[in-house]
Amino acid sequence: MKRNMSGKVCLVTGGTSGIGYVTARELAKVEANVVITARSEEKGKRSVEKLRAESGKSNINALIADFSFQSQVRKLVEEFKRQYDRLDVLINNAGAIYFRRTLTQDGIEMTFAANQLAPFLLTNLLLERLVSSAPARVVNVASNAHEGHVINFDDLEGERNYSFMNAYGQSKLANVMFTYELDRRLAGSEVTVNAVHPGYVGTNMGGNNGWLVRLFLPINRLWAIDVDQGAETVIYLASSPEVDGVSGKYYYQNKAVPSSPYSHDENAAKRLWEVSVEMTGLNS
Ligand SMILES: NC(=O)c1ccc[n+]([C@@H]2O[C@H](COP(=O)([O-])OP(=O)(O)OC[C@H]3O[C@@H](n4cnc5c(N)ncnc54)[C@H](OP(=O)(O)O)[C@@H]3O)[C@@H](O)[C@H]2O)c1
Repeated sequence: MKRNMSGKVCLVTGGTSGIGYVTARELAKVEANVVITARSEEKGKRSVEKLRAESGKSNINALIADFSFQSQVRKLVEEFKRQYDRLDVLINNAGAIYFRRTLTQDGIEMTFAANQLAPFLLTNLLLERLVSSAPARVVNVASNAHEGHVINFDDLEGERNYSFMNAYGQSKLANVMFTYELDRRLAGSEVTVNAVHPGYVGTNMGGNNGWLVRLFLPINRLWAIDVDQGAETVIYLASSPEVDGVSGKYYYQNKAVPSSPYSHDENAAKRLWEVSVEMTGLNS
């Protein structure tokens, strides 16, 4: 059940393809003022044109940021605040998987930087805006890939031992633990925060790892759910009155479900928070 979102501002990171794109389109259809993020002006412009055409709505715009640069996350926040005086729903969706260990310009392992540190920084820098627009919502697109992983504080960036599955699983676990920790920190406010596993979805995920992987994406889609289905729970958490006031949960198929036992480790979540503050220079 989607409510009319007229007058509400929704920021969807990674709105150029996959789950973020469909989420942006569907929220625009129910009259939300939608802002997507894109990595380049050109891609942003193309996506906005397509989204407007498909939704039949003009209330969609783009802001530019590559999440592997913390400076671009900060610039995005400045630009967002300059253009919009409220934020009702923040959807941390942008994410990727990196088959080979690479470092960002900030010198941080790419998976941890883009999937965990960027949404951590973005959310914290926008928190004031969310609180002043409350009731407001944060939706973190995590994954069941978090299951079976731990936060490897001794080798967080896979310096000694990199496996893309571990790096991705750890980053998605970090998304879930960030959700729970933020919920604890937001107690008493009217800002809710929930995480979601969208299912195994036929998107462009993995396509940044070369032509061979891209060649397999259409085959992969044969056993994945389609993107519209994959975006359903994200849209539900962003817009349904059924989850008014619901916070600190992990959702799949429009239902709160248990996340892994480790994801509930409050000490590890606090430590992850502190490490993320340090690595983003949030307090400096
Ligand atoms: N597909 C699945 O089966 C699945 C399952 C569980 C969870 N998820 C999660 O769902 C979310 C969306 O993924 P998707 O499946 O929809 O994949 P997708 O089609 O590849 O879309 C990912 C989006 O994130 C953006 N993005 C990636 N890296 C970025 C960066 N460094 N800076 C800024 N934007 C970046 C992409 O921008 P570009 O268009 O520029 O690449 C794109 O808009 C991810 O967080 C993923 O972990 C997906």
